[in-house]
Formats: sequence, C-alpha cells, structure tokens
Amino acid sequence: MAVPASPALADATRGRILFGGDYNPEQWPEETWYEDVRLMKDAGVNSVTLGVFSWAKLEPHPGAREFGWLDRLMDLMHEGGIGVVLATPTSSPPPWMGRLHPDTLPRDEDGRTEWWGGRQHFSHSSATYRRCAAAITEDLAARYAAHPALTLWHINNEYCTFDYGDEAAAAFRRWLREKYGTLDALNNAWGTAFWSQGYDSWDGILPPRHAHYLKNPTQVLDFRRFTSDMLLECCTAERDIIRRYTPHIPVTTNFMPLWIGQDAWRWAEEEDVVSVDLYPDPRDPLGAQHGALIQDMTRSQARGPWMLMEQAAGPVNWRGVNHPKPRGLGRLWSLQAVARGADAVCYFQWRQSRQGAEKFHSGMVGHAGEQGRTFQEIKQIGAELARIGAEVTGSRISADVAILHDWHSWWAATQDGRPSTEVDHPAVLHSWHRALWEAHLTTDFAHPEHDLSAYRLVVVPQLYVLTDAAIENLLAYVRGGGTLVCGFLTGVADQDDRVRPGGMDGRLRDLFGIRTLHEWWPLAAGETVECDGPRSGFRGTLWSEELEAEPEAMAARYKGGELDGYPAVLRRGRAWYFSTLPEPDALRELLSGIASDAGAGPVLDGLPTGVEAVRRGDLLFVLNHGREPAAVAVPGTHRNLLTGETVTDNLLLGRYGVAVLRP
Ligand code: GLA
Repeated sequence: MAVPASPALADATRGRILFGGDYNPEQWPEETWYEDVRLMKDAGVNSVTLGVFSWAKLEPHPGAREFGWLDRLMDLMHEGGIGVVLATPTSSPPPWMGRLHPDTLPRDEDGRTEWWGGRQHFSHSSATYRRCAAAITEDLAARYAAHPALTLWHINNEYCTFDYGDEAAAAFRRWLREKYGTLDALNNAWGTAFWSQGYDSWDGILPPRHAHYLKNPTQVLDFRRFTSDMLLECCTAERDIIRRYTPHIPVTTNFMPLWIGQDAWRWAEEEDVVSVDLYPDPRDPLGAQHGALIQDMTRSQARGPWMLMEQAAGPVNWRGVNHPKPRGLGRLWSLQAVARGADAVCYFQWRQSRQGAEKFHSGMVGHAGEQGRTFQEIKQIGAELARIGAEVTGSRISADVAILHDWHSWWAATQDGRPSTEVDHPAVLHSWHRALWEAHLTTDFAHPEHDLSAYRLVVVPQLYVLTDAAIENLLAYVRGGGTLVCGFLTGVADQDDRVRPGGMDGRLRDLFGIRTLHEWWPLAAGETVECDGPRSGFRGTLWSEELEAEPEAMAARYKGGELDGYPAVLRRGRAWYFSTLPEPDALRELLSGIASDAGAGPVLDGLPTGVEAVRRGDLLFVLNHGREPAAVAVPGTHRNLLTGETVTDNLLLGRYGVAVLRP
C-alpha cells in the first residue's frame, strides 16, 4: 500500500464481498470443472484462487510450460462470472527441482534437509529457487495479464520457512554486514564477550544452528529478522515482476494468523491488499475472541478493508481432534469477519480432496456433495453476503483503543534462558484483547512506533523490547493526553536485547512511578497472588514483582505472601502499570473502568455476555456467539439487512444469530 496510486481491494471487490476459496481443479478430471462452475454459481461464489500448488502441473519438466489447462479454467471462470485470484505456485516446487538442484532445499537447525514430498520445501536464500520462481512468475504474469477473469494476484502461500543451510548462512552474513558494518559493532550488539563468543571474521558467523547449550539470544533475534526479510525479498521479487505486467491489479500474500515468522507490520507495507488465513477451533469457548483478535490485527495492518483468504467450511485435519462447525457457526464467523472489516470471505478449499494429505480437511463442497449440510450453509452465506455487499464494502471501523504489538519484541521474549517459561507472548496478548473484547470495546492494533494520537486508550500487553523511538512515542502519547496501560515485562530490553539499566527503561519507570524494581517473582502454572484495589480485590496470575514505588503511584497492592504490601498496580496520572496479569474477569473490570475514564465506551450499553457488537461505517453488526437466544437492546429503529425486517429498540437473536442493522 506504499504509493497512493497502488491498486486496492476495492478494485477487486467492486462493491461485492468476494466469496469463494482456493480452487485446486488439477486434482479433478475436467468434467468436474463444469460441475464446479454450476455449484459455484448456485452458491454465489464470485472469486476463486487458482494455481496455489500448481507448479508441477505448469512446469512438469525444467523449463517446460503447460498453460493449456489453466487457459481453459480462466476462460471457464470468466464465462461463469467468477473472478480469479491467480496465485504464483512458488510455495511448493516440483520434485525435479529438489532432485536436480538440491541447493533449493532448506535445512533445519540440526542440518536435516527438508525434502520434497510435502510442501514449502524451498530455501528463501537459494539463487536457483529464486531464479526458477521468477521465471514461472514472469510467464504467468505475461500470459494472464490481459485475461478478463484476473482480479487479484496471490503470491506464494503462507510464507513460513526457515533455512539454516550454507547458502542461507552466506546470506545471513551479508545481511549482518549491511546491518552492522563492522565486526566490532556486531560483537558489541550480540554481547559476544559472554562465553567467549567474539568473532574475528565474518566467515565464522553461522545461523543459530544446533548448539550444546543456550544460544546467543541476539544472534537468534537477528536470525529471525533476517528470515522475515529474506522471505519478504522472495515475495517482493515476484510482486515486482507482476507489477510490470499488471500495475492495475492488486497483489497480496496470505498471512498465517499471528504467525511468529513474519514481521507482518513490515510485510503489510509491501502489499496492496492484506489477507489472512483464520481457523479458530469450533470447540474453543474463546474461538470467537481469537477470531476477533486476528481480524482486528489484520484490519490494522491493512489500514482498511482486508481479505479473509482462508477459513474452513467444516473441520480442519491438523488438530488432535478435528471438530466440524455446528450448524450456524460458519455463518456467524463469516459475518464476524465482515463486521470487523473483511471485504472478502474465502475458504480453503472449494472442493474437499479425495487424495493427498488434506483429504479429511473440509471443503465448501464436502465429500457429502451438494446435498451435504455444509454446502447448504455455504449457499446461505453466499446469498447473505451478496445481500449486504454493496452497503458494507469499503466502509471503515473506528476504534478508541489500540493494543500494541511488535514482532521483534516477541522474537526477543520468546527464547530460552528467560525468567519464566509460563509467560507465552501470544497468550498474554490474547488475555488483554479478551478483556477488551468482553468489555465490548472496539480495538485496533498498532506498532509501538505508530502515531497513537487518535486513540483514547493504548494498551501494551507486553513489549519486552522497546526501542528508544517507541519509548519516546509512548511518553509523547501520554503527554498529549492519552491513557496508557502497560503490562509487566515491558521496556526491559533495547533492540539488541540488552537489558536496560535498572531492569526497565528509566523513562518508563518515571512515567509509572517505579523507584526500584528489585526482583521479578514469576508464578508457577495455576499459582495466583491476591491483590487489593483499585476498585475491588482481584487475583493476579503468571507474574508478580517486588518493586518500590512513589507513594502516590500505588493503585493496588499484593496481599499476603512474600510480596505483602508491595504495589501490584501503579498509576501516575494517565499512565498505568500492571506488574501481574489479573484473572480474566478482573482484567475486564479494571480495563473497562480505565477506558471509561479515558472516554472510550462499549459499542452498545448493556450487551449480554457472549454478544458482540461492531460498528462498521453506518452499520451495526450484532452477533450472538452463544448457543442460547439473546435479547439485545438496540435503541432506535433499524432495518436488518439480512432479513429486511424493521427492528425497533429490541433485537432477539437465536443461537449463533446475527443482525446487520442500518439506521
Ligand atoms: C493453510 C494453507 C492451505 C491449507 C490449509 C489447511 O491455510 O494455506 O493450503 O493447507 O492451511 O487448513
């Protein structure tokens, strides 16, 4: 989304919500394709993603090109009025590539080769892989640039690989030379005085391969940065080829939800459209909140409408026990994505496979076929999305609250040799988001160096690493009248994972009124600490701290135990610091109070538990995540766009019921 002239999702949607999914027709005889088009039209499908795993079909031998089958499909889709999201097939190279060019195969940290026979067996650093990927991308772009079915480009699929092999090692050294310039600077940043790790030559530096004991944490951190950058280079190389042919067609690559391997803030800057794959567990009581978190994060990366590239129509096949979606849940979660900013609702995959590793993963057309319950529900979803598309697409969501998240901090915090293995970064993020979600506060995500001035409340669940620029940004935000709430283990280290003097940045300690941070007291799994105030008592989990505070900053204290009387929550003006993680109900209550004082309120007052409300543009989405009916007060007169009915003041939603209300 870098330059204003870039194409955007709106160029692909044209006022409709994109509805469809990954379509892998190469797995089926051609007769089936005609049947597919008939069923797609029946279900209101207007978009399919072709070619994600087609490399071996397109290039069965080195340099060969077999486009005939894809030509026929592109034409068939166009005749059926179905747009094509055309994928570059570069996430799964054909077997010949590994056989003829073993240098394209990645190695894990133990030196084991990742062979063909699965997928994603490519090294991001391999010159041969990059050359072959560029060639097939170029030929695809040239061939289909003018095809009327083409609506969007989809690069690769879920970039997520690591490589510790020799070519990656050489690339890592180049990356480090560029970053540090001199070996002295690298030795200093990595703290190599520790354990005799000083480098006397660039040639001595390796990826953090298997080692006898704990690895150098900054080497690990830089390797994660390098990996994200290398994968992004692969992606932008393909994007740049495509843009030469179709500057007017938007380009995306699909993210995995909250995936540790990619700095998605950085990646999103390089995309025209941000898209994500999302698979909440239908049995997870917090599945809807997990969905909301990913949707909020993706919308924030997109800075506007985004694309749900993949979800499951029924069960996945990669959990221990794979549950289908109960009747109505697929519809509810699809509309939830739209409520939270999606202008595309797509699935993996159109037709459930009969062979291969994912044959027990659901499809929009399952093994039960057109009479199956899943397909019947898909038809309903397609029809409803068509009904609301014109009023929804392109509209925005505005949030008073932002949660800060940063991959570099996550990478540094998620390493061995830390105070507690119980502190899991994504779990902490989920806890804080859950509290806000259950309080019915609409939340964006933001990077710690983003402009935060539009938010009334900024929440930092945990940013173990904060750069100086980020710290100054937080201070300026509070100075400018914003309310800041920080969780523990924030501002501990600088960008090199060097602990800041005093165990936490001095500017932040002043902000919160911390005089001395004596010790961290992490809690064991299931262990809690009693706390009192600020409004009522609560129990803290995961973590506690022995710290000395300015007396006026004390907002809640630990009660009993070793830390009896020490501060648990600090408050100085509009800056709050939580040295423990309150249990869910308490965190929700505490945050609701702070948000309300900051002028940030729930979407609707008096919403029952389990009912979610989101305002998108002029529309109010109300979603019942419960299995029991729910009565919701919605003052005023509205039209429910899903049913055409008029709703005045009160709305009754059945199990998994949804209303999309227009004033
Ligand atoms: C990911 C991939 C798909 C498929 C699904 C299965 O999202 O992108 O190709 O493997 O998972 O859930």
